[in-house]
Amino acid sequence: MPKETILIIDFGSQYNQLIARKAREHNVFCEIVPPAIDIRSINRDETKGIILSGGPASVYSKSAPTCDTRIFSLGIPVLGICYGMQLMTKILGGVVTRARSREYGRAVLTVTNHKHLFKDVPPESVTWMSHGDKVKRMPKGFKRIGLSKNTPIAAFADFKKKLYGVQFHPEVAHTKFGKAVIKNFLKDVCRVRSDWSMKSFVKETAADIRKTVGNKRVVLGLSGGVDSSVAAVLINKAIGRALVCIFVDNGLLRKAEGRRVKEIFQKHFSINLKCVDASEEFLSALKGVIDPEKKRKIIGKTFIKVFEREAKRIGSVDFLAQGTLYPDLIESRSAFGGPSATIKTHHNVGGLPKKMRLKLIEPLKYLFKDEVRKVGRELSLPQEVLGRHPFPGPGLAVRIIGEVTKERCDILREVDYRLIDIVKKEGIYNKIWQVFSVLLPIKSVGVMGDKRTYENVVAIRAVTSVDGMTADWAKIPYNVVGKISNRIINEVKGVNRVVYDISSKPPSTIEWE
Ligand code: XMP
Repeated sequence: MPKETILIIDFGSQYNQLIARKAREHNVFCEIVPPAIDIRSINRDETKGIILSGGPASVYSKSAPTCDTRIFSLGIPVLGICYGMQLMTKILGGVVTRARSREYGRAVLTVTNHKHLFKDVPPESVTWMSHGDKVKRMPKGFKRIGLSKNTPIAAFADFKKKLYGVQFHPEVAHTKFGKAVIKNFLKDVCRVRSDWSMKSFVKETAADIRKTVGNKRVVLGLSGGVDSSVAAVLINKAIGRALVCIFVDNGLLRKAEGRRVKEIFQKHFSINLKCVDASEEFLSALKGVIDPEKKRKIIGKTFIKVFEREAKRIGSVDFLAQGTLYPDLIESRSAFGGPSATIKTHHNVGGLPKKMRLKLIEPLKYLFKDEVRKVGRELSLPQEVLGRHPFPGPGLAVRIIGEVTKERCDILREVDYRLIDIVKKEGIYNKIWQVFSVLLPIKSVGVMGDKRTYENVVAIRAVTSVDGMTADWAKIPYNVVGKISNRIINEVKGVNRVVYDISSKPPSTIEWE
């Protein structure tokens, strides 16, 4: 059975990810493609519908992105959203004009035809619009199906050719019946099957990887974080020992990290794993460095050096696999998603593909984080890996304020280990976005067993967040905060004071450096 797909042509709207997301919620696979897509590459058996996204341009401006005009005569249903609707109008012979007043925000949509696209959408409902231009005259064969106060043609349709346009954004949450509109387009107009699931994703992707790789070899930098772990297990399922994973211990990891990675990936999943202890190399490169950005740069460069060296030892390798996710991919595209736009390089392997002249394999590049977790569950990765809080690439180096030394890393590792243990036992780990400790570059006076001490201070940072972009400090119960402080001061030599960070982001950041 062919894999049914919805293509989303990207005209630069900031909501494109949301369109993809909404389609996925109906178990429909979709792919975002640039406007320059070669029409011959569109598989007519697989492509069940095309969505033209919104975008910031005006169809009449010189640099306005456009698409192959034959898209409308493929016999595949098309839905144009905002700019997409205007482009459809222009290409098919209608007229678009500059609106006298820009419509931005809430607008009440009056539906004048409830067939297909607006099935189950009430006669009047709130939508969200953001446009300067609007359709003045529809192309031949189109009927108006909706209007708003400022936009007489807010939605139109050529029912025969299955071409639809809406001036509002059905993909945003503020459009009350947006979900229904997208569902109607997918199910009622495109009649696409809802059979895309994580199970089928795993099966299809593994088959694709096998085909691409052939009898060549793939190398992957495994950090133990969610993305690279899921990518590793998925590729391992596809090609087994032809995948070589490299785990670099940079000396800046949490306690027992290396051991756990070996246990999970080498023992449990039988992954071809090379563990490299490069901690001395990293720590000596970091000697005397205090500036956070310098730390990051040194760690990035050293990682590339170590990884490249280890990869060479493996012998001939043709592919580099990365756990790049969909948001990484989209964020890094130019406004109109041209094929020449560079793909964001993962911080851990930044610069590697270019330097090593390897072809990239990014099996998760169409997925969102929660979908990656679902794939991980499908592949039986333990919750310990899938539910993990984010951990920065530069590791403890950006949590040790001031110079990074082995001794200071060891102190912080012991502190962090106890902190996480308590938070997990208290059942609050999964309610928090991130919790960690920071070693401060100051000492404080204390008294222990009648003796004066002069030791390190650690700060506990715990935040709640949805995406890491903004965050609030977590209101961990006082008794738990108390337990954390007691255990750390009693058990970790070299620490005599614990403080709790009560700053939100913004204006602070999550990490201290
Ligand atoms: P900030 O500190 O900018 O962090 O509020 C937002 C999220 O990003 C993580 N973070 C990093 N991750 N390399 C990474 O891989 C880095 O250099 C880095 N700096 C911050 C941070 O842990 C939080 O989840």
